[in-house]
Amino acid sequence: MTALTGKTIVLGVTGGIAAYKAAELVRLLVKADAKVHVAMTESATRFVGPLTFQALSGNTVWTDPWDTRMSNGMAHINLTRQADLAVIAPATANFMAKLAHGAADDLLSTLCLARDCPLLVAPAMNRQMWSNPATQRNVAQLRADDIGILGPDSGDQACGETGDGRMLEAEDICAAIIAHFRPKLLAGRRVLMTAGPTFEALDPVRGLTNLSSGKMGFALARACAQAGAAVTLISGPVSLPTPSGIARIDVRSALQMREAVLREVGRSDIFIGVAAVADYRPVATATDKIKKTGETLTVEFVRNPDILAEVAALPSPPFCVGFAAESRDLDTYANGKLIAKKLQLVVGNLVQDGMGGDTNTVVLFDAAGRHALPSESKDDVARGIVAHLSTLLV
Ligand code: PMT
Repeated sequence: MTALTGKTIVLGVTGGIAAYKAAELVRLLVKADAKVHVAMTESATRFVGPLTFQALSGNTVWTDPWDTRMSNGMAHINLTRQADLAVIAPATANFMAKLAHGAADDLLSTLCLARDCPLLVAPAMNRQMWSNPATQRNVAQLRADDIGILGPDSGDQACGETGDGRMLEAEDICAAIIAHFRPKLLAGRRVLMTAGPTFEALDPVRGLTNLSSGKMGFALARACAQAGAAVTLISGPVSLPTPSGIARIDVRSALQMREAVLREVGRSDIFIGVAAVADYRPVATATDKIKKTGETLTVEFVRNPDILAEVAALPSPPFCVGFAAESRDLDTYANGKLIAKKLQLVVGNLVQDGMGGDTNTVVLFDAAGRHALPSESKDDVARGIVAHLSTLLV
């Protein structure tokens, strides 16, 4: 059973090169247990054949407003009337203009106008078309009409240019659709988070760091955003893409992370420290590369500030969640951090379970005691943490 089990989604495909990504989107939605009905504009069929979508969805693909295959001849109304959600991916500039003005001159635009289900739109177009004031006016109108805009992404475009306007990847659109159906446990909350390791430079090329991959923090950022929160993620050096809809600030050292946190924390209701912050940094960073001069090298370290403890000690602190990564005696150390740092919640994990991999086993510690979550993927664990955290908020 998934968030999409029993859900019917109408996927509208319009005429852009990103139509090929819509095929993957159908595959992901079907895999996640949704019933998918595809409707295509005439120009979309020039990019990908309807047969591809029929094979992937297992359902008839609709292109013609005069199609008589619907028993009552009302394809233009029936499809979206029976749907839980309509999604247009890719949505061309032209199709968005039609949506903004309520035009209904083909099957897909008529389906959108006649719908009584929510609508999400994933724009895909050249950067110049996206930034054109006419398109931006249309986007603003769609938002005002309560139509969700997914993306667009930025990067290389099929036309050879680079900029905003690329359609989000199928995985991101699928995640946004799943999020649409999840309860919004953190709606209206502003979450500030840290994730990943820090890097404490010894010289221009070397430094002290740890094996945190950032996966747990990024999964939790994604889960918070999917639960309706506005998320700012301050990340140490990791090689992970930014989850959709999240504001990301990249930092390197503990001192940079602290500075970014203190700058942002005033705008946050919840602070979650997932980062594996180095407890110590070298007293001095050499300007030049340190040379091999002897058999041993002695480096003096100084204690880094504890960012989480500092946030929790603010005069009006946000709701503070810490992580505890231990190699043994998890309960003792995690409970110790809950009390010593004056936190509302501590997520305890053993480094051998949580660091680097794709799964984790965590125990939550709060004023009421310990709550073990099942061993699962970091995304599932993150959703479990969000569910518990939401019960503690006033
Ligand atoms: O990134 P992954 O590979 O997915 O691995 C995930 C993880 C194991 C790193 C993560 O689940 C985790 O446990 N993160 C916290 C790691 C850690 O540094 O724990 P700690 O026990 O040393 O610190 C306790 C808390 O204080 C943490 O919330 C930490 O962010 C915070 N802290 C620590 C030191 C410091 N100077 N400033 C801090 O804010």
